[in-house]
Amino acid sequence: MTPIEQHIAERLAGREQAGNLRQLRRPHAASDFFSNDYLGIASSGLLDDLLKGCDTGTGSTGSRLLSGNSEAAEQLEDIIAGFHKAEAALLFNSGYDANMGLLTAISDRHSILIYDELCHASLVDGIRLSQGTGYKFAHNDTAALKKKLELAKDKGPKIIVTESVFSMDGDIAPLKEMAELADQYNAALIVDEAHATGVFGKKGEGLVNSMGLEDEVFARVHTFGKAMGCHGAVVLGSVQLKQFLVNFARSFIYTTALPPHSISNITASYQYLSQPDFSNKGLHELIAYFRQKVKDSAMEGWKDSNSPIQALVIGGNDSVKAAASALQNAGLQINAILHPTVPTGAERLRICLHAFNTKEEIDKIFTTLSKLHA
Ligand SMILES: Cc1ncc(COP(=O)(O)O)c(C=O)c1O
Repeated sequence: MTPIEQHIAERLAGREQAGNLRQLRRPHAASDFFSNDYLGIASSGLLDDLLKGCDTGTGSTGSRLLSGNSEAAEQLEDIIAGFHKAEAALLFNSGYDANMGLLTAISDRHSILIYDELCHASLVDGIRLSQGTGYKFAHNDTAALKKKLELAKDKGPKIIVTESVFSMDGDIAPLKEMAELADQYNAALIVDEAHATGVFGKKGEGLVNSMGLEDEVFARVHTFGKAMGCHGAVVLGSVQLKQFLVNFARSFIYTTALPPHSISNITASYQYLSQPDFSNKGLHELIAYFRQKVKDSAMEGWKDSNSPIQALVIGGNDSVKAAASALQNAGLQINAILHPTVPTGAERLRICLHAFNTKEEIDKIFTTLSKLHA
């Protein structure tokens, strides 16, 4: 065995021993409580009519800066900027690319990036790959954030990084207080709206918009692979930030642009949200129904969340996997989230609610869980 093969074998054996070896599995037909398709756009053909006659071109042929730009991509950026009340929008190929590109481009070795401890891996990786210094603060704790800002007071440019809806806990960041602190300490606030897009705000415009904080936030990231039912992402900010990212964001510059069919899909998804009869109320009614069941069940370990992401912390890889497989055997697609995706002891069931789920399906989750606890 070569040293590299030895290294690989040891790492895999370590995962196997810890019970958290990741494997690709094909989803099977069952009630969907695991996808991020919160509005059912990806699975329910909701865009079919809007996509009639649209460009289905398969490839963009190059980077936006070379052969991959198009009128459709530029028009889409204008539509998105208008929809979210931002000065400008720049498309990226995924949320991962957007976060990496944005964070690495805007920071240099003097920058201090102050981030919530539960930030998504794409934000953490962006911070790690940047030349700046990362300061982590306790989840959603504005006093802890203030302490870090104080610590960084006499240092270089400060950037605060958070999600509006957290991907694993489903709870919401105290954006207003964070914006006030950003203002007080002359820091730039960056908000990842991946799980708020389509879900929060009357038109699904996200939390920054619906809270009227667009002028307080330096940059927002919206992704299209979740409630928007497509693929790709956008960074919202000033015209100057857009120009800067076109020049310095490596994950924008050195990659083939989104293909025409993707641009058509994202455009159709925004048209869908913009229709006068669009409503995400049904989804929020189901969330409220779910939360009432949580209350009634008196089961411990539920995270406090009013978003489509609901988490039941069980702890321990084997226990969570056993609970997930009992739910799967009952015809409910619910995933176990293991360490290292979440910290040790915080292993959980992650239950995603969708506009198309029914109250009967939700009831089934609770009857199955109560049998496990009995
Ligand atoms: C908070 C957050 N940001 C960014 C991403 C990455 O987005 P994408 O899947 O488009 O790469 C995700 C997806 O898992 C996420 O949950």
